[in-house]
Formats: sequence, C-alpha cells, structure tokens
Amino acid sequence: MENPTSAVKIEDGHSSWDTDVLIIGSGAAGLRAALAASEHTNVTLITKTTLTESNTHYAQGGIAVAMNLDDTIALHIKDTCAAGAGLCDVKAVEMMVSEGIPRVAELLDWGADFDWEGTLPRFTQEAAHSRRRIVHKGDATGRETTDVLIQRVLNTENIHVLQNTFAIDLLTDAETTEGREETVTCYGVTAIVDEKAVCIRARATILATGGLGRIYPCTSNPKVATGDGFAAAWRAGCEMVDMEFVQFHPTTLYLDGAPNFLISEAVRGEGGQLINIRGERFMEKYHEKGELAPRDVVSRAIQVEMELTGFPCVYLDITHKPAEFILERFPTISDTTKRFGLDINVDLIPVRPGAHFMMGGIRTNTDTETNLKGLYACGEVACTGVHGANRLASNSLLECLVYGARAGTNAAMFASLQPSYPPDMLPTGNTETSRMSSVEADLASIEAIKGAIQETLWENVSIERNGEGLKQTLAELQDLTTNLGDVPAAPESDAIAMVEAINMLNVALMITQSALARTESRGAHYRADFPTYNDTDWHRRILILRDNPPEVVPLGTLVSS
Ligand code: FAD
Ligand code: SIN
Repeated sequence: MENPTSAVKIEDGHSSWDTDVLIIGSGAAGLRAALAASEHTNVTLITKTTLTESNTHYAQGGIAVAMNLDDTIALHIKDTCAAGAGLCDVKAVEMMVSEGIPRVAELLDWGADFDWEGTLPRFTQEAAHSRRRIVHKGDATGRETTDVLIQRVLNTENIHVLQNTFAIDLLTDAETTEGREETVTCYGVTAIVDEKAVCIRARATILATGGLGRIYPCTSNPKVATGDGFAAAWRAGCEMVDMEFVQFHPTTLYLDGAPNFLISEAVRGEGGQLINIRGERFMEKYHEKGELAPRDVVSRAIQVEMELTGFPCVYLDITHKPAEFILERFPTISDTTKRFGLDINVDLIPVRPGAHFMMGGIRTNTDTETNLKGLYACGEVACTGVHGANRLASNSLLECLVYGARAGTNAAMFASLQPSYPPDMLPTGNTETSRMSSVEADLASIEAIKGAIQETLWENVSIERNGEGLKQTLAELQDLTTNLGDVPAAPESDAIAMVEAINMLNVALMITQSALARTESRGAHYRADFPTYNDTDWHRRILILRDNPPEVVPLGTLVSS
C-alpha cells in the first residue's frame, strides 16, 4: 500500500490535501461509506493507525440479520426496541433491519466466508434475540468483514487511503447574518501525519471514528478507541445525544498478563454457564433468561456476585461442550486463552464486565446528516437512535453496514452540489487542542492524566452510578481540565497522546453530565439512587452542546441542519 505521508503535499511549511469526500475511520462504517461514495466521486479515507485497526476488526459474535426461515423483520425490530428500553427511534430501527438484509447479502456476494449449514448461513443465538439470527465466521466475524471490505476499498481506484493520519479537529466555517451565527459548515479536518499538522479539506466529511471504550480501564476495545470523533464533533458544535448510555459487556477476560480481550456472548449463546468463585451458578437468581438475559442485567449480576464473594471475577464454563465443537466454533478465543495457559476445553474462563459500546453519540437523522452542513456521521460514533438505551447484541455491525452505505451516498451527493473546494483554510484550532500543541508535557504526565480519567469513571460512572459519585467525578474531571493549563506543552512526538487525553476528558465530561441529569434507571444506565424506570418523566433524550448544560429534549431524529 502507498505510504500515505509521501502523498501529502507540503506547502509553505503546512501540509494540505484536497478531496471531494473525506472519510475518517476504517471500521465497517467508514469502509462501507467509502465504497458507496466512490460510486459517485473521489474519496479519501484516513485512519489513525493501520487500515485494519478498529473495533470492527475484533468483533467476534457476528451480524444480526432477519434472514433465517423462522425469522421476520418485525421480530427483529421488536427485539431491538425491547433491548433499547423505550428510547429506540423506531423509524431508524426499521431502516436498519430491513436494509440490513441486502447489505449482508451483498457482503456474502463480495466473498465474506461466513459459516454455512446446507444452503443457509449457520445462524447462532445471542442474548435477548427471540430467534437464531446471527451470521458469523467462527468467533472472528469482524476480521472476515473488514478483510472483505478492505480488499474492495483497495481495489477501488478513486478511493485514496491515508494510514497513520490522526484527525484532531473539524475545520468549520460559520456564516453569520447581522452578527448572528446561522449555519456552521464543515470543510474537512486538521490532522497529524508524521508529527506534522496537516489540513485535509473536503466538500463533504464523514465521521466514522468508532467508540470510546478506552476511557475505562476495563474494556473490550482496542487502543484506538479513545473517543476522538465524539470529542472533535462536540468541540465543533455538534449535537450529542444519549451519552449516558455506555454498554458494559459482561464477559471480558480477567487473566494476569493477558491484554483486554472479549469472551463473546456467543459462548453463552452456545450454552456457556456463569458461576461464581464458590462454584454456584447464579444468573437464574437475577433473570428468567439466565445467562441470556440482556447485557446490562448480566453485567450488574456479575458485579453483585463479585461484591458478595469479595472476588475480582466470576467464571464462564463451556467445558461440557465437545472439544471439536469448541475448536471449530471459538478458535480465536481458544487460541488466545491458550497463549496465557488456559485451555477452555477443561478450564473455567475468568471473566468480568468491561466497557464495550457507546449507544449515544453525534445526533444524526436517518440520512446520517448532523447539525453541521457537510458533516455526516455513521457507525458507533453516531446516534440515529437505533440502539436506544441498550444495544441488542450484533446489531452494531448491521448498523455500520446500513448507515455507512447511506452516509457514503448522501455525502457524495452533497459534495457534487458544492461548486468548488472551500477557501484555503488552515487550522484555526480551539482552546484545548491549540493549548496542548503549544506546551511541553512528557508522556508520563499525559499517561497519568489518562489513568486518572479511567479510574474516576470506573469508580463512579460505570455499571452502577449514584448522584454523589457522579458529582465527585464531575469535579475531578473539571479539575483535570483546568489543570491541563498547567501541564507543560507536549513535544511533537507526544502530540497524539496529548490530544487523546483531551478527547478522553471531553467525552468523560459529556457522559458524566448526562448520567447525572438522568434521574432514573433505564437500559445500560443504572442509578442506585434512582433504581426505577420512570417513563413519565424520562421518555426523553439528553442533548449536550458545547458550553451548554445538558438539555432534556423529546425523542425524534434531528433534521435541523
Ligand atoms: P470502528 O470499527 O471502531 O472504526 C473506527 C475507525 O476510526 C478505526 O479505524 C480507528 O482507527 C479510526 N479512528 C478513530 N479515531 C481516529 C482519529 N482521531 N483519526 C483518524 N482515525 C481515527 N458488534 C456487533 O455487531 N457484533 C459483534 O460480534 C461485535 N463484537 C465486538 C467485539 C469487540 C471486541 C468489540 C470491541 C466490539 C464488538 N462489537 C460487535 C461492536 C462493533 O464491533 C463496533 O461497534 C463497530 O465495529 C464499530 O464500527 P465503526 O466502523 O463505527 O468503528
Ligand atoms: C460478542 O461477541 O459478545 C459481541 C457482540 C456484540 O457486541 O454485538
């Protein structure tokens, strides 16, 4: 693949790059968007590290799709809305579920080698699905999906890929009439390439930067998931919604020396049982569906069992299944755990919950438009409302394929209506990021800031929250934000780590403020001081705009751009 840095022109000490449609992120959403946009115009896709590094790449369980003989679109919609606990946008769900069928069929057509049984994909079961509807490739569905999409992107002549290109801030221009700001337009992004600032200008921009699991110390997410897109969008004036709803996956591996690693829900779907350190099976105490209860219920139950037994994990037991089945169905989990001395054919798997997925994000309508003209968002960074207060397992990859394709087409159409490239803009910066780039902080102090954010979020803004703890974290985050002014400037080599720390702080604040505002429990948001579901007051969303307190707004998608 072409070395991206050599492709960026250096002019007057600044690098710049012009494109019709700019896509930020190389997960399923960004890759699918690139393919759709490339049918109409020239595309540049940038990504933080390598093309393959993304949450998508590590997806295990599969893609939910209503293709099985006993399944229907209506049932899939019903299950999705039930998991979403009253906050799903039904129109967006209908679109995802129905357009998901041709999107998955097309992926198969393009060569995705999913598991088959006779003439049909081998559908598996996951929690809170009323049918077996998950198509998969063993336990490495994400890798298979990205391999197929990446191959197609690389074979498409008018898609230009820039790897190791770290997006910092969106380039925006506000039109004002009589001193009143009217429309904010997005013209691309500022980025860091080879420790240098780069200005990438575009007629239309798509944010597909994925999730933010790394703001927590325990997570299933890879290193790239520091919430960069959420933070950049918020700084640029995007409407952010549902930010209190962070999903914690019940089973991440808890093993000395092992990296963050997910143990797929499909293990429970295939009969895996949860037991505590005393050897007691416990899920039936908490929910009639036992191990296949909704994720928030299983995560909370594990947390309670860990507290009751005073032990830092519980165990997942799949040893009753034949060894050949385990090897064929869960090769990645088998291999990975084996590297750390655990044989899942005979050993119990030590697990505990970890941050997994963000239901909220940049508010978009079903055309993936944001409230900034020329800016589109899709995948985990966006919030169309498809997941409501809690995402149904394996609906995320489906969302990425459906809304990624829609974003690509819509952005290309928008770009074709723009008469010329935007004016020659250089980064104007914003208070936090320009301050960061002008100071000198060593990596150790940046890592200490990141660690402090993770610790306070884990303590007070994770599976169980309460008002006192949330206020304490809010104060700590505000202190950290203020203290950033005292942190000496990062050398250029640490600039990415520094911007990540700012991004983590920005998203941590949004999540904490929203969690404090929602005085009820719903979906993934559980308040010990408000433990009940309160539809009378809270059948609403919380909207966050930069420099404003959280605002409670009715449900419904945005079309205010
Ligand atoms: P991602 O796939 O995360 O891609 C984001 C991209 O943006 C990455 O390439 C990243 O490098 C890039 N990026 C980020 N910041 C910047 C920046 N500043 N500048 C430039 N580029 C940037 N969902 C399912 O439906 N089924 C599953 O089986 C499943 N299993 C999962 C297993 C794991 C371990 C994890 C972590 C998640 C899983 N999920 C699953 C959730 C799902 O994988 C993600 O929600 C989905 O893949 C998100 O796709 P995306 O394209 O929005 O973002
Ligand atoms: C898993 O395999 O458990 C993850 C599935 C998902 O997050 O949808």
